[in-house]
Amino acid sequence: MVTGATGTVGSELVRALSNRGVHVRAGVHSVIKGDRLRQLNPAVQLVELDFQRPETLDVALTGVDRAFLLVPFVETQVEDSKRFIDAAKAAGVKQVVKLSAMGADAEPGIQLGRWHREAEQYLAQSGLAYAILRPNSFLQNFITYQGPSIREQGAIYQPLGEGRVSYIDAFDIAEAAAALLTADVARYHGRAFTLTGPEALSGHEVAAAIGAATGRPVRYVDVPEEAARQAMPGAPQWMIDALMELNALGRAGYAAPITADGQQLTGQRPRTVQEFAQANRHAWQP
Ligand SMILES: NC(=O)c1ccc[n+]([C@@H]2O[C@H](COP(=O)([O-])OP(=O)(O)OC[C@H]3O[C@@H](n4cnc5c(N)ncnc54)[C@H](OP(=O)(O)O)[C@@H]3O)[C@@H](O)[C@H]2O)c1
Repeated sequence: MVTGATGTVGSELVRALSNRGVHVRAGVHSVIKGDRLRQLNPAVQLVELDFQRPETLDVALTGVDRAFLLVPFVETQVEDSKRFIDAAKAAGVKQVVKLSAMGADAEPGIQLGRWHREAEQYLAQSGLAYAILRPNSFLQNFITYQGPSIREQGAIYQPLGEGRVSYIDAFDIAEAAAALLTADVARYHGRAFTLTGPEALSGHEVAAAIGAATGRPVRYVDVPEEAARQAMPGAPQWMIDALMELNALGRAGYAAPITADGQQLTGQRPRTVQEFAQANRHAWQP
């Protein structure tokens, strides 16, 4: 069972598991988006899953042996996670692999990490076999969030100063998740893996890689935090505050560490920014 199956990491995981010949059930929030997963694997089983509606969890988890838990970036993510863990236990699931975030174990940490930590701890105390993936920021954020400004203005605007970040490609997160979900359940039980890319990049270096891949110049613009806040009209205050906390960590260099955890799980070097930019160059065409 893959939750968040239509999203950035989940869709990659459906692909990774399908490539390994695993029978995949995709928990989909919107069925129309779920239909696109059938292009990755016509045999994928689609089932409605809404973290806010417990009755969908019970149905979706029936007969599931192993589950990937990914909650979206919403204010209810801790309750959503707990509800899923309870339902997984009741359904007799043998293993839950939870997607968390780098630094979730840091004290006192930041809001985003604390939410993940609370869910991690709930999972650890559930009695289920489990493993945790703590990825750094995704390279795909340069498509999902920065994509419009790169396409329209050839610019990446971020309040990150000269801070370096060891961004990871969602492809590598999915490969690590697939490795956990196909290994013997006992092998990685109770372990947490911090997933990073192979290099820590400045905003200028990311911009240069995307520029080289698209053939159009892209520049990085360090913006003051206040300007970044103003650039998110309509976003709830908790979300703006949480993202600004994360950016402040990045600016201070806390998002730069590089780990070998992913490679230990998959046996593969994680993708570089050049490889990511080349593979996704069409995403930034105007
Ligand atoms: N972005 C980063 O740099 C980063 C770094 C570290 C950790 N993380 C963590 O990664 C997670 C987000 O992963 P992602 O970027 O792959 O997510 P995403 O692309 O935003 O996708 C979210 C998925 O959740 C589904 N969903 C939304 N509401 C739902 C609900 N009520 N019930 C069930 N499913 C629901 C969405 O389906 P619909 O589209 O149909 O609604 C979608 O499939 C978060 O937990 C975040 O903290 C992110």
